[in-house]
Amino acid sequence: MEDKWKKSREFLVRAEGSLAGGVSSPFRRKSPVPLFFRDGSGCRLEDVDGNRYIDYGLGWGPLILGHRHPDLLETLRDQVERPFHYGAQHELESRLSERVQRLVPCAERVAFTSSGSEAVQLALRLSRAFTGRKLVVKFEGHYHGWMDSILASYHPALEEIGTVERPRTAPGTRGQLLAALDDLLVCAWNRTDLVEGLFRQHGGDIAAVIMEPVLCNSGCLLPREDYLRNVQEICARHGALLIFDEVITGFRIALGGAQEHFGLTPDLCTLGKAIGGGLPFSAVAGRRAIMEQLMDGVAFGGTYNGNPLSVAAADTTLAALEKDGGAPLAQALAMGERLMKGLRTLAADRPFPVKITGLGTAFSVHFTEKDDLADYRDTLEDDTDRLSRFVMEALKEGIYLLPDGRWYVSAVHGEEDIAETLDKMSRVFQRLC
Ligand SMILES: Cc1ncc(COP(=O)(O)O)c(C=O)c1O
Repeated sequence: MEDKWKKSREFLVRAEGSLAGGVSSPFRRKSPVPLFFRDGSGCRLEDVDGNRYIDYGLGWGPLILGHRHPDLLETLRDQVERPFHYGAQHELESRLSERVQRLVPCAERVAFTSSGSEAVQLALRLSRAFTGRKLVVKFEGHYHGWMDSILASYHPALEEIGTVERPRTAPGTRGQLLAALDDLLVCAWNRTDLVEGLFRQHGGDIAAVIMEPVLCNSGCLLPREDYLRNVQEICARHGALLIFDEVITGFRIALGGAQEHFGLTPDLCTLGKAIGGGLPFSAVAGRRAIMEQLMDGVAFGGTYNGNPLSVAAADTTLAALEKDGGAPLAQALAMGERLMKGLRTLAADRPFPVKITGLGTAFSVHFTEKDDLADYRDTLEDDTDRLSRFVMEALKEGIYLLPDGRWYVSAVHGEEDIAETLDKMSRVFQRLC
């Protein structure tokens, strides 16, 4: 049979001769075929073999306006005629920080960084400086970037995790400075009693609790009712800070992120991905007194902070999402919900169990018998072989998904795209055994 991805495979072999691993991020090697792309527009992508896809990977999340959105093209064309970088102040920075301040509930002050990993490091440092404490609580299955201080218990294997009452801290990588994990407490998510327990034991030493308010990196799992509020209350009672890592949820599940959606304001949040619309950009936002430590002994830097191209792209992205009272983001959420519903219907008559979890613009498919998916541990029973076949079959049909079965939906996925997707996915489900 003819290989649909011949050129991609050849390009990969060539890349491996010079680029370590042939890819710019090892996560990308997990795709069924590490594709090389040559074009994209709206929610459509084209690879170097000429195959076309409806894109639900969206660059791993940032492309909330799809590819080459006209507003972004116009802004960037204009901006590219100007200096690429000042390493100094320019007016667009205030325009954007004021917009973030208006949209994101916790954003009394904002700081610009360039990647989500970096934003998380800044949030952790600010928390430790503010509280004068050293411990940070992170949850199993939550991803906060690839740095030594926080890459732990992301996707640990069953034998590595210990009991739910006493989870083991699983290092994230070879080469990691293990001492960096000494100040990390790992907890299973979505159980208030476990957070209470940690605070009973270590309360006076805990600087912050960090979490993805929707667990997008382990199957788009939702917080249980009152869980977020309970954790917030425990933090407040013990003088610890609550950090929402909104690198995925920010400007994706609501204009004000998960904090707007669930109606509670953390002390700090990190923003990334969608905020930049595809350009490298991230931010930390939070309470003024915490953020203003940046002028008072908390070190912070970054050559590219406030880079004009990224700032212009971010401001235009948020302006586009805000139009007509937020109609574009509402449209993305509605299309995503329609897709989730359609996929559930297609899955209903299959001889294997399928669960679809998340919120319209970020959701995941699980092949599992479990009804209640509330935590990373619950996903360990997922049938990952079937999931890999599902992602591969979808790719053959021209539906581009992330390798872990995650779907991102943008403001430019329209009704016809969703109908076409469901038509293709009906064949995928039929073929899957
Ligand atoms: C929730 C979350 N936080 C932080 C990061 C790290 O962001 P970046 O890859 O931009 O460093 C990611 C990346 O996927 C993420 O999903």
